Amino acid sequence: MIEKLTEAAKKAAENSYSPYSGFTVGAALLTKDGKIYTGCNIENAAYSVANCAERTAFFKAVSEGEREFKAMAVVGGRDGDFTDFCYPCGVCRQALSEFCGEDFMIITIKENGEYKKTTLGELLPSSFGKENLS
Ligand code: THU
Repeated sequence: MIEKLTEAAKKAAENSYSPYSGFTVGAALLTKDGKIYTGCNIENAAYSVANCAERTAFFKAVSEGEREFKAMAVVGGRDGDFTDFCYPCGVCRQALSEFCGEDFMIITIKENGEYKKTTLGELLPSSFGKENLS
């Protein structure tokens, strides 16, 4: 499954619209029932409007009715060169936490196929969630 997600994330990165940063990101999100939703980063002339690849994939899935997720694979690097591991930013971690639990797996992958697995719980400990609002 990691190979399939890696390929999907790399393919999504090909659609990255990042003329301002030159930083290309692709993400592939796996639902609990095995569907894959992909996303790329989408920048804007008004820089702060940029949307990360992870949130693109997540919002696509949620808008299609998905609510249960298992894992996400991420590739990212300058000019499509995935020499380092790219982790979801803080905003994306928080966005994912709405529907993804602490055991949600995040896989970051380098061009050479090397990968690291971590969980949302590790990347976003003591998070703020809907339970805090009740
Ligand atoms: N970016 C992502 O898409 N995901 C990340 O995990 C980190 C950053 C994007 C946002 C922006 O288009 C570019 O990378 C540089 O920050």
